[in-house]
Amino acid sequence: MSASIKDVAAAAGVSVGTVSNVLNRPDRVSPAIVERVHATIDELGFVRNDAARQLRAGQSRSVGLIVLDSANPFFAEVARGAEERADAEGLSVLLGNSGPDGARENAYLDLFREQRVRGVLLTPSVPAAPGITHAGIPLVLMDGESADGSVPSVAVDDVEGGYLATRHLLERGRRRIAFVGGPLAVRQVIDRLAGARRALADVPGAHLEIVEKPELTVLAGRQVGEEFAARKREDRPDAVFCANDLLAVGVLQGAAILGSIRVPDDLAIIGYDDIAFAQSTVVPLSSVRQPAREIGATAIELLLESLADPAATPRRARFRPELVVRASTGG
Ligand code: RIB
Repeated sequence: MSASIKDVAAAAGVSVGTVSNVLNRPDRVSPAIVERVHATIDELGFVRNDAARQLRAGQSRSVGLIVLDSANPFFAEVARGAEERADAEGLSVLLGNSGPDGARENAYLDLFREQRVRGVLLTPSVPAAPGITHAGIPLVLMDGESADGSVPSVAVDDVEGGYLATRHLLERGRRRIAFVGGPLAVRQVIDRLAGARRALADVPGAHLEIVEKPELTVLAGRQVGEEFAARKREDRPDAVFCANDLLAVGVLQGAAILGSIRVPDDLAIIGYDDIAFAQSTVVPLSSVRQPAREIGATAIELLLESLADPAATPRRARFRPELVVRASTGG
């Protein structure tokens, strides 16, 4: 049977209250006592019972975080940002993946309600499940917004991001531009494409080809790159804007490494997110940076605001995208 908090107190020669303070309010205890109690905890193998603590304190120290796919570096960075900000508040983050179609989103929302977490940060599946804004638990949307503004949210202006990416290609003299992304029902893809169209409207004679893919993955991008390489030269685009960096990495592999296409000479490539890997591809990728860690940290701040004043008007935080130019577009 594992040691109890009473066993730790007896072995360390302090009261149970002192042990509790060492665990929850160490600033109220002398460093020597803190060190002695932690040494005793380690020696006895004591593990606090958070469920019992929650019942006594009436509040959980945990926050649920649901992302579409933590294997995608963008969402991993969002999670890191949330975790770092939560840690500064003495909170811990419980991570769940809802999957490419959000199939497990409701299951995780149910689990986090049962766990009595303080709230949930959610990158909504697409299209967002109906009623998601009334999840019965304090909710913050990340990388998405609620149509009626009833839920706090933090996202990037993806229309502006799509405009920046496409205008950059046009400024490099490209006129046969392919947009690669999907599903076209995904809000982020819709907005990025809308921004691309806005940029083309300013340049008569420029042409936009839309290549829809079911997933924003490296494999999907590679299939597109190989398809471009299989075309006759005059049928190929001279530039491609990918809805995220993973697609762009795939197009680079399929077109340049496996095909006969020179990047950027024959085909300029730009992605979206500016994941760390984008800098180290064989031809460093131009991209549109989303401040992923700041998005995660801001989501925690929005949740804390919502918990502090549930009646306050939900805040919508919006970050501006940033164009990052590298070799894949001639930078
Ligand atoms: O790379 C994952 C992509 O899914 C990101 O661009 C994010 O905004 C979402 O669209």
